[in-house]
Amino acid sequence: MEKERVLIIGSGIAAMTLAKQLPKDKEILLITKGKIDDNNSVRAQGGIAAVTDAKDSWRAHFYDTMQAGYQMTDPEAVTMLVKKGPTYIQKMVADGLTFDKDESGHFLLGQEGAHSQRRILHAGGDQTGKKIMDYLFDTLPDNVQIITNITVVDLLVSNNQCYGVLTVTEDGETCTIYANHIVLATGGCGALYQFSSNDPNITGDGIAMAYRAGAKITDLEFMQFHPTLLVKDTQSYGLVSEAVRGEGARLVTKTGEAIMDKVHPLKDLAPRDVVARTIQAYLAKGTNIYLDITMIERFRDRFPMISALCDQANLDLSTGLLPVAPGAHFLMGGVATNLAGETSVKQLYAVGEVAASGVHGANRLASNSLLEAIVFANRLARAIKRAKPIKTPIRKSRTKTIACAEKQLVLPRKTDLQTRMMLQAGIIREQSQLSDLKQWLESFNIHQDIDHVIPSQRMYLNQLLTCWLIVTSALARTESRGAHWRSDYPTMDSKWEGKHITYCHEQLGH
Ligand code: SIN
Repeated sequence: MEKERVLIIGSGIAAMTLAKQLPKDKEILLITKGKIDDNNSVRAQGGIAAVTDAKDSWRAHFYDTMQAGYQMTDPEAVTMLVKKGPTYIQKMVADGLTFDKDESGHFLLGQEGAHSQRRILHAGGDQTGKKIMDYLFDTLPDNVQIITNITVVDLLVSNNQCYGVLTVTEDGETCTIYANHIVLATGGCGALYQFSSNDPNITGDGIAMAYRAGAKITDLEFMQFHPTLLVKDTQSYGLVSEAVRGEGARLVTKTGEAIMDKVHPLKDLAPRDVVARTIQAYLAKGTNIYLDITMIERFRDRFPMISALCDQANLDLSTGLLPVAPGAHFLMGGVATNLAGETSVKQLYAVGEVAASGVHGANRLASNSLLEAIVFANRLARAIKRAKPIKTPIRKSRTKTIACAEKQLVLPRKTDLQTRMMLQAGIIREQSQLSDLKQWLESFNIHQDIDHVIPSQRMYLNQLLTCWLIVTSALARTESRGAHWRSDYPTMDSKWEGKHITYCHEQLGH
């Protein structure tokens, strides 16, 4: 009997964890549009939030996550996250993954914004994501095949069932891959913005494809901006982890004014949206903001990755001041899933940042994302294992591709798109700017059938469509909540509490 094939699109921690945990009797194909480490996971600095200390409790972690999410989180999903998380992490540790420990062998726990306890596990100082990725990659079973530099541009769907994908290679060749289970692990979309902590490949393609396939898409207005990217001469060099503030660093002006002191009781460790907006307000007035790190001893040892970014930017660490600005970091919304990672389309799943699993609400709690990737990838592996075998997988040829002529579209420059997204759908939003951006996006005919477009433009068309979904969602939510801040509706409105902006496109039925 032919083996069932699971196709995983993406190469981050969610993708790798799933590939590792799936049953060994399946054929597992992991494909990614860039190189294997062109993802956000390898960049993750802060660590993983998980309860491992007797002084801490899952209830405290649950409470912090719910608070951060501004009444938009799903309590059931959060309970699963915080209760199952430590067990999965202990299993990985037993399997060889290491986290930083003190001399007596206890985990060294970091502190990050809006956490009521020190509970952030880290590895290699600030190289947590890379260390986990190395561990996962090194322990992948033999039934996992990896293909790099191949871009998925469309999902194949018939009668609300996904049965494969359409890909484009670097040479512009299209190719169909059939599978019994198709998993989106494509990450978020931070790189659609001018300033971003994300890998340039993280452009929300999976969201647009799922939308066209008729899957439910939700909460796209909730884009988290990290307060502190290292920015010198308007160029961003990467993230300066919140863990740096957790070790005592302060946000200051050049003259030493501590900018968070009067803004929030948690000061520099206030929720991300509050810190990002405060910095943005200073920058808008022409006042540069710095992280004062003078109180952190042996900074290079604790934060080797950030120190390397400073070297790259030619910044002298001994001045004790790092210039920072906010940038796009994490998308809370995405493809709606249940607790098992299933989307509203049969045989199509989503896991990691591309999924809206309900754990982040309107604002993700720091370092909950790696935890989400690990917990939900394990649950999804279980769901696929338990799924009824698919006896006759669909293998339909894509007749539309042959039947219609392909056009080359006039599309905007990527840098123009990113600048507009930052200015008009960024940290502070407003009706006329959002409407203007929506109209501009619509002028590029982004809703047309992807088969009518030349292969080399299809990926970018997906990105424009994701931008349109973000902008349309941001326009629709006429209030400010969590990461979504409208200057024309500057308060949280109870009529929006728990209400999700959800899209479900009519299926095209390829
Ligand atoms: C950070 O290290 O500040 C980022 C961690 C996260 O976004 O969870």
